[in-house]
Amino acid sequence: LHVTWDAATAEKGGYEHFMLKEIHEQPKAIRDTLAGRVKDGLVDLSQDLSFTEAELKRFDKIHFVACGTAYHAGLIGKSVVEKLTGIPVEVDVASEYRYRDPIITPSTLVVVVSQSGETADTLAALREAQQTGAKVVGITNVVGSSVAREADEVLMTWAGPEIAVASTKAYTTQLIAIYLLGLYLARILGTCSETELSDATQALVQLPEQVEKLLQDPVAIQRVAGEIAQHEDLFFIGRGLDHAVVMEGSLKLKEISYIHSDAYAAGELKHGTLALIEEGIPVIALATQKAVYEKMVSNIIEVKARGAYVLGLGLEGDTELGKSVDEVITIPDTRPLFTPILSVVPLQLLAYYTSTARGLNVDKPRNLAKSVTVE
Ligand code: G6P
Repeated sequence: LHVTWDAATAEKGGYEHFMLKEIHEQPKAIRDTLAGRVKDGLVDLSQDLSFTEAELKRFDKIHFVACGTAYHAGLIGKSVVEKLTGIPVEVDVASEYRYRDPIITPSTLVVVVSQSGETADTLAALREAQQTGAKVVGITNVVGSSVAREADEVLMTWAGPEIAVASTKAYTTQLIAIYLLGLYLARILGTCSETELSDATQALVQLPEQVEKLLQDPVAIQRVAGEIAQHEDLFFIGRGLDHAVVMEGSLKLKEISYIHSDAYAAGELKHGTLALIEEGIPVIALATQKAVYEKMVSNIIEVKARGAYVLGLGLEGDTELGKSVDEVITIPDTRPLFTPILSVVPLQLLAYYTSTARGLNVDKPRNLAKSVTVE
């Protein structure tokens, strides 16, 4: 008898690393997080959140508080919730929140986001917010975790266990939880028409299939990873929601490939970073936001003119982007608010393949822990 696999490989479901397995689990994780929360074509969180309609209508501002990747999900949350509800939203990293004396009142809704539900900074922020009388919703992936136990209300993500230190499926399911929260609030507050809500919900439930499609062909990403693995510095640029996504893409790459990168709001380049763009420097440019597309393309042309090697990431059917970049990757078309779920996937894969091209320990990068329980 000849056994060609070992227990560790079996645990990884045939994938070489947990991170790759978890990237591929995203369609299922997203489906599971949506399950039971869309009824008759509209988002219904009444089984998850026990707020009454009157309570929900009283919130006049929302704070997202989190660390690391979960903080990047919060940045998306700001745009999503403000757009859908008109309620002003602030986003803080938890380790700063408590010390900046945030203005919290009983009509503030604080949303803490934490995969593990055990991050010390996030927990401290949760407790502080509760002490000042705010209501806290916890978005977490671990049933029975401290966040799940202590938050006033819990919105679970159903990503399943995430083993790789670099977070992937936890992030995309956090985004789903945020979309659900935004659409639910908009429904209760009446800030969007029923048609708008049902169209958006329809687009939301298509996302798992669109992620599946994205995962089918990593060849272009592997090629770009081979190129950037040779560098020590690179830049990510984007505007609007794309800026929040490149912050996550840049973090992913730093965590597991040890390549230094900065994520810039593309319009800010000319106020400093452009000085660092020289011949051959890789720039990863996201151009999925239709409202700022032309402006984004001019930013790409600015870096190209200085000799950058540019990977452009745009929407399917974009025939323009290819003219100003070295390599193009596209994502399936969706509503502008939902693109982050799709555009982050090639960036996760890029980080993964760059790390493996450098022969590094993808699942357990140096100096980092999956869950940080010290402040
Ligand atoms: C650690 C992990 C990150 C994670 C952050 C917040 O730094 O390495 O991947 O985003 O903690 O973790 P949480 O469990 O609160 O989402």
